Amino acid sequence: MKKRTLLLSFAVAAVAVAAAFAWLTIRRGFSARDNPSAMEAYVARTARKLSIPAQERDAQKPFAPSPELLSEARAHFADHCANCHGNDGSGKTEIGQNLYPKVPDMRQPETQNLTDGEIYSIIHNGIRLTGIPAWGAPGTDNDSWKLVVFIRHLPQMNPEEMKEMERFNPKSANDRSEEEDEQRFLNQGKTPKRKMHHLQGRTRMKQMILLLAMVLFTVGTTLAHGQEQHVMGTVTALTENSITVRTKAKDLITVYTMPDTKYEKSGRTRSITDLKVGDRVVIHAAKMNDKLMATEVRFGSAAHAQYKP
Ligand code: HEC
Repeated sequence: MKKRTLLLSFAVAAVAVAAAFAWLTIRRGFSARDNPSAMEAYVARTARKLSIPAQERDAQKPFAPSPELLSEARAHFADHCANCHGNDGSGKTEIGQNLYPKVPDMRQPETQNLTDGEIYSIIHNGIRLTGIPAWGAPGTDNDSWKLVVFIRHLPQMNPEEMKEMERFNPKSANDRSEEEDEQRFLNQGKTPKRKMHHLQGRTRMKQMILLLAMVLFTVGTTLAHGQEQHVMGTVTALTENSITVRTKAKDLITVYTMPDTKYEKSGRTRSITDLKVGDRVVIHAAKMNDKLMATEVRFGSAAHAQYKP
């Protein structure tokens, strides 16, 4: 009899606590902007741990962190993960901070103390009810293992590596078509081949996320673009510190070079001495005191023969 009373009061207390918790939660409202409570975070992490089969949790990564492998994984991460996680893994991105739960700083012990197998499983299988999608095709997936190697390397990332990653961050549709126009001009009208995506067609989810990212980033890049000007045309004169270009609209525009102006031809780094009158160029320039200062000069091949002053 006594035991029954005890059990009953326990049950009543449990129901009361649950009801109070539910009432508080509902009153607070649900928004992806909130931070999970400590309790919620603990339950979620524990549930996630339990959901990973022991065999997978203890799996060893099949790759050592060679420079080539890290470089490949960096490019992959910059392209697929950095929208939410940031190139440095800090999670300080617009999307990352507004997801629920927020994207964690993967350089911290919370992530670094996970086993290789756990990190692999998270990447390969995704996590339900969170922003993180499943990336892996069924079966062992080397790409995900390489990402594990990269995540281990995050706390030691250096600035050069960060810089290199920016080249692989997804571009907005606007940037991409602008770049294609410029490349077509440099190639004298031939349409450049679009690079095939190595993971093309994996999931619909991925496309949706990229679309979302693009919408968010387009807003940012359009504003940033305000300061920058692209000058496209044929070089008509060169001095030590300036390039004069005749544009398609037959305007003559002079752009000034700076010590840190970058020169590039067909994807290779060049210098100003490689540039000749008659070359086709695309110059990215910033306006400073009414002068156009070149940040980047890209030039095309074999424009010489066609140049008619
Ligand atoms: C749409 C945004 C998004 C993208 C894209 C994304 N993630 Fe995540 N990721 C998240 C969120 C949100 C979490 C936190 C989930 C949680 O706390 O349960 C997370 C968590 C993780 C974790 C677990 C870290 C920890 O300590 O709990 C790993 C590892 C991870 N992501 C790796 C990746 C990799 C690698 C990629 C690219 C292949 C990727 N993510 C792409 C949103 C994203």
